[in-house]
Amino acid sequence: MISAIGAVASNGMIGLDGWLPWDIPEELAYFERMVEGAALVIGRLTYESMDVVPVDSFIVSRQPDLALRPGCTRVASVEEGLLAALATGKPVFVIGGTAVYAAAWPYCHRFYLTRIEQAFSGDSLFPPEIPVEDWPIHEELVEVLLERRSGKNVMCRFLQYRQPNPRPLPVPRCNSKPVCSE
Ligand SMILES: NC(=O)c1ccc[n+]([C@@H]2O[C@H](COP(=O)([O-])OP(=O)(O)OC[C@H]3O[C@@H](n4cnc5c(N)ncnc54)[C@H](OP(=O)(O)O)[C@@H]3O)[C@@H](O)[C@H]2O)c1
Repeated sequence: MISAIGAVASNGMIGLDGWLPWDIPEELAYFERMVEGAALVIGRLTYESMDVVPVDSFIVSRQPDLALRPGCTRVASVEEGLLAALATGKPVFVIGGTAVYAAAWPYCHRFYLTRIEQAFSGDSLFPPEIPVEDWPIHEELVEVLLERRSGKNVMCRFLQYRQPNPRPLPVPRCNSKPVCSE
């Protein structure tokens, strides 16, 4: 089971200056609750924005020598990250950012997407090519929550989309170790 989770403003923004464009503690708490105990697949910039990164986190980066915190492993592609995360036996969550969602969505069974029904300034977008609108909504919860920077209430829709036919992950390519014959 592979899931993705994220939150998006009504104008498609997901990030600003390396963090979220909004300050909605309940939404952050929802995210933390949902991914607790899971293996995570994380883009390098999102990883760097996090104060706490749980064990069994797989950081997608093209930098072979990237230094990471204990419990974190660099992977060179989203597919490699998903395979490694699945191998832990834990539930798997893809937590963004933009390019990681864009590469991972075909493999995701579920997308937990919080739609924040207000526009925010930002510099990272939810990938518009992800066809979540075409997927059935399995669960929806609507809450009006305080956005602390503006001091105003915003409507948040906590949606669970289910992709009808996720793509199977590619079989890992055999490397050149002698035990492997292709
Ligand atoms: N609202 C939300 O739910 C949500 C979720 C996640 C993040 N965010 C926000 O979004 C922003 C960060 O996201 P971002 O989109 O800018 O960056 P990101 O996806 O977290 O990280 C981008 C980096 O990941 C690596 N990468 C991405 N795709 C790859 C691929 N296919 N293969 C290999 N490496 C790949 C590259 O690292 P290297 O440069 O090391 O090669 C790339 O520079 C922050 O503001 C964060 O707070 C919001």
